[in-house]
Amino acid sequence: MERKWWKEAVVYQIYPRSFKDSNGDGIGDLRGIISKLDYLKELGIDVVWLSPVYKSPNDDNGYDISDYRAIMDEFGTMADWEEMIEEMHKRGIKLVMDLVVNHTSDEHPWFIESRQSKDNPYRDYYIWRPGKNGREPNNWESHFSGSAWEYDETTGEYYLHLFSKKQPDLNWENPRVRQEVYEMMKFWLDKGVDGFRMDVINMISKVPELPDGDVQPGKKYAWGGRYFMNGPRVHEFLQEMHREVLSKYDVMTVGETPGVTPAEGILYTAPERKELNMVFQFEHVDLDSGAGGKWDIHPWTLADLKKTMTKWQKELEGRGWNSLYLNNHDQPRAVSRFGDDGTYRVESAKMLATFLHMMQGTPYIYQGEELGMTNVRFSSIDDYRDIETLNMYKEQIENGEDPQAILEKIYYKGRDNARTPMQWDDSEHAGFTTGTPWIQVNPNYKEINAKAAMEDPNSVFHYYKKLIQLRKAHDVIVYGTYELMLEDDPLIYAYTRTLGKETLVVMTNFSSETAIFRLPNDITYSTKQLLISNYDVDEQEELYEIRLRPWEARVYKLQ
Ligand code: GLC
Ligand code: CA
Repeated sequence: MERKWWKEAVVYQIYPRSFKDSNGDGIGDLRGIISKLDYLKELGIDVVWLSPVYKSPNDDNGYDISDYRAIMDEFGTMADWEEMIEEMHKRGIKLVMDLVVNHTSDEHPWFIESRQSKDNPYRDYYIWRPGKNGREPNNWESHFSGSAWEYDETTGEYYLHLFSKKQPDLNWENPRVRQEVYEMMKFWLDKGVDGFRMDVINMISKVPELPDGDVQPGKKYAWGGRYFMNGPRVHEFLQEMHREVLSKYDVMTVGETPGVTPAEGILYTAPERKELNMVFQFEHVDLDSGAGGKWDIHPWTLADLKKTMTKWQKELEGRGWNSLYLNNHDQPRAVSRFGDDGTYRVESAKMLATFLHMMQGTPYIYQGEELGMTNVRFSSIDDYRDIETLNMYKEQIENGEDPQAILEKIYYKGRDNARTPMQWDDSEHAGFTTGTPWIQVNPNYKEINAKAAMEDPNSVFHYYKKLIQLRKAHDVIVYGTYELMLEDDPLIYAYTRTLGKETLVVMTNFSSETAIFRLPNDITYSTKQLLISNYDVDEQEELYEIRLRPWEARVYKLQ
């Protein structure tokens, strides 16, 4: 397998609005990030993925861009950005920017032009259609509730928006749109950025006829995903982007690709295809969604998690490359969702980190994950900020749902769980701001914060630091092959990684009970070394039968 820097790296995601405020306006900003770079250096990460910092009216917190070449006023200036990247590079940290090119803001000059008239030169930058039988051109539902079409009076046509109505979809069929995107990418690459995380990049090619989606009983709009996800020309477009832009720089790319299967994942990431380095697949974070989608919540099971993760590990092995994540700015907090954020918060946060970082792929840490930050439960809908959550709440209230039941769903799945401010210390507003934060801090900040974690050698923070160091010291963690063990065990997720004569045995207990790990007969060893564990372990103990304590994790290296 070819060695690459981005395979050996650990990425840290910053959601700038919630990371660190430097000027007391309650909103995180670039100077706030600069002030925390030593913290990131201390943690040991290699790359920062920065969620969008471009000019935006913030309908979707920067994922609605009105100028791709300017910095959002609230976040600072281009000079601040330049200082930020310089300070990152000084510390050996690379910067990956978010590339949001499935759509722009409706306040982008292209769209302002586009809506003027049917023969405006920018008309075809977006996807316009006349209505059908007095309604929308098709029945697609937006990701943020309601129709994916908005009627525009000026020209009497509708435009497509897979997300909010302030996020019109770009028309990638138009070669001029593609050239604009490539030029813009070069603008940032020439400024020194080290790669891109590409927002919903598998949605840029739509089936041109835009056929109706399958109608679900009792629903007004339909899921049109199979006509806009992994569409007919997406690979052609990405290969063109690679040829024209990416091939000219040594950068890393990760595509956000909801709904991809491993077979498609290989198409996106196989090196000889020259598209992307890796993708964010969604199968493991969709395990707790039912047929009704994200808000139709069903508990996930360990058996399903094993199946899904193992499928991705095995199918991409030697063919493509995985990105490894358990949470981000769109997902609930990992420890609340997959661990125990009560009694065993610290143990289970460390266990989940072990489980993830020892797999094959590039690991991603979402801000605060390294502290074991948890989900939040605001008592009123008024405390929530996310457009997806607010639109869903409104729609379900209109459908007569019980408000408390909707709030429970938000407590479990809402994106604001990940967006409460980073907890720096135990002072007011967790040291995030001296003003009033744009969204309230999680009330548990007095206990869970970076200052306390850095002072406590047994903290989740120090455990992540050690995991990152191990990755640098043992090639098998990066390049070894993966094999699931104890497939049917109801409590334990265990696997091996093998490279040459070295084998790692990773054992993790996904429960608050004691679980017995038994080493399968086909694994033998003459020497063993405990690389990391989240409890005190007797180093003499043999591996043949181990009592794993609640949420215990251990990694051994055998030879
Ligand atoms: C991606 C982003 C999400 C955003 C959406 C629309 O899924 O991660 O935050 O709302 O795209 O840009
Ligand atoms: Ca600020």
